[in-house]
Amino acid sequence: MASQLIVRAVPPFRVSGTPGAAARELLDSARELLDDVELRRARELEPLPRAAFLAGRLAQRRFAAELLDIPPSDLTAAYDCPECGPGVAHGRPGYTLGGTPAPLLLSLSRSAGWVLLAAVQHPAPGQGLGVDVQDPAGTDFDGFNEVALGPAERESLRGLAGAELMTGRARLWARKEAWLKLCGTGLRIAPDTVEVLDRPGIRDLSSAESGLPARFAAAVALSRLPGQT
Ligand SMILES: CC(C)(COP(=O)(O)OP(=O)(O)OC[C@H]1O[C@@H](n2cnc3c(N)ncnc32)[C@H](O)[C@@H]1OP(=O)(O)O)[C@@H](O)C(=O)NCCC(=O)NCCS
Repeated sequence: MASQLIVRAVPPFRVSGTPGAAARELLDSARELLDDVELRRARELEPLPRAAFLAGRLAQRRFAAELLDIPPSDLTAAYDCPECGPGVAHGRPGYTLGGTPAPLLLSLSRSAGWVLLAAVQHPAPGQGLGVDVQDPAGTDFDGFNEVALGPAERESLRGLAGAELMTGRARLWARKEAWLKLCGTGLRIAPDTVEVLDRPGIRDLSSAESGLPARFAAAVALSRLPGQT
């Protein structure tokens, strides 16, 4: 049976009452549900990125728990970084359940307060997953094409200007980061060396499929990990 992709967009963390009360509510949920290693990483961040980090981690944990039909507190964060190894709070996301890896591939991306989550339940051995969301406004700087894109990708944007150019760049960048998350390397690899226009396994996510506002570009990569047969 083909593994099914599940995608969910989570809107920005909303301040319901006073900002202080909302921040306390977020912290209380984080202390209740997240693991020490995650809370330690949060403490190293400035207040705004810390809130975004905690909101994303809570959303991802609740999403995974819902798919597995278990309480979120049953999951233990089990991230894997190609540089630092397992047992850290960064890198490729994952959880264990009762000491064994939860049967889920997960990927997360944040942009402008939104969190985009993707999962595959009971993945085939050697399968990988990556998801990414980009706000086109973030690509509006000189030198983007030279640093970020390969020759065929630059060529595909030739003649575009203004909003169309930003949208085209964001689309390619989302595809690229989705692929680099699938690989587990992230941007340790120079992004202009990874062409993603026609790479099998990568596709754009429409706002109808992702649940994100239409201005965002989003992409998913789902395929066998490179080097696996
Ligand atoms: C993967 C990467 C491109 C995403 O960066 P970004 O665009 O700033 O952030 P996004 O919001 O789209 O994605 C963040 C999520 O990507 C995922 N991620 C991070 N590193 C990853 C990796 N190596 N493989 C797969 N997914 C990864 C995590 O789920 C992370 O969420 P978190 O902040 O809750 O941990 C970037 O983090 C990267 O290049 N990482 C590799 C370098 C690195 O991590 N160095 C420091 C530790 S040695």
